[in-house]
Amino acid sequence: MSLLSLTDVTRTVRLPDDSLLHILRGVTLSVGAGEHVAVVGRSGTGKSTLLNILGLLDAPSSGTYLLDDVPIERLSHRVRTRRRGRDFGFVFQQFNLLPGRTALENVAAPLLYARGRQFWSRNRIAAQMLERVGLGDRLDTRPETLSGGEQQRVAIARALVRGPRVILADEPTGALDVETGSQVMDLLDDVAAQTGAALVTITHDLAVAARAQRQYRLADGALVPITLDDSGRSIGRSVEWIGDVPTLVADRGGLSERLLPSAEAGA
Ligand SMILES: Nc1ncnc2c1ncn2[C@@H]1O[C@H](COP(=O)(O)OP(=O)(O)OP(=O)(O)O)[C@@H](O)[C@H]1O
Ligand SMILES: [Mg+2]
Repeated sequence: MSLLSLTDVTRTVRLPDDSLLHILRGVTLSVGAGEHVAVVGRSGTGKSTLLNILGLLDAPSSGTYLLDDVPIERLSHRVRTRRRGRDFGFVFQQFNLLPGRTALENVAAPLLYARGRQFWSRNRIAAQMLERVGLGDRLDTRPETLSGGEQQRVAIARALVRGPRVILADEPTGALDVETGSQVMDLLDDVAAQTGAALVTITHDLAVAARAQRQYRLADGALVPITLDDSGRSIGRSVEWIGDVPTLVADRGGLSERLLPSAEAGA
């Protein structure tokens, strides 16, 4: 049984000029508990759209999405909202922390939507989570005064505080230097392994992707498996390299794609 399973999922949006933009054209992907899957792809290829669909923030235009073997369209709006908060933890490139609130308040925020012990003991649970990411002495610090790596650790604590079954990370190291990014990925990998959560990481960095058990490239609206050698280099022609830098580069095509309307899904 898969925790998540997409079959032939498409996502099409209507643009203001009434034309249709086919973002995903038939994506098939299964992720089981405890698995780590990475997705790479140029800017604008639909990676965040895919992650938003997985996290129930967006819905497929066609195809099926089974969550615990149940098609998501069978879940009521209320159940979907509840499962989004309970089963999924999101980590973003720009951390998306609440400014003006302490680290503790940021991490406790998702527990305001929980019930029972999780709700009533939210500050204690949040403090334990911050301790776990190495920030036990920064509970009362506002995120804007923390370093990038520390802010991402607060964001990870927030994503994990409800014990999600799936962690969805959208370029979690994109705003960090290589060393800090690697520490953040160690942390995500560790916590996912300890809790048995599935981890789906979107990244431009092949060294980050290489940490996953499976790698895919999103191109032309479809997911294609890629194979990496032991050093994290891609075998085959699907990923481009500049010298020895292990980065999926935004080549000229990628940059021109960036100039397309770039309203983020769900905005
Ligand atoms: N609701 C929407 N309405 C119109 N266009 C959209 C919508 N959602 C996404 N798009 C477009 O679909 C394409 C894919 O968007 P998406 O954010 O998924 O790309 P991405 O692969 O995450 O890119 P990046 O690497 O830059 O984050 C983009 O061209 C984007 O502008
Ligand atoms: Mg994106």
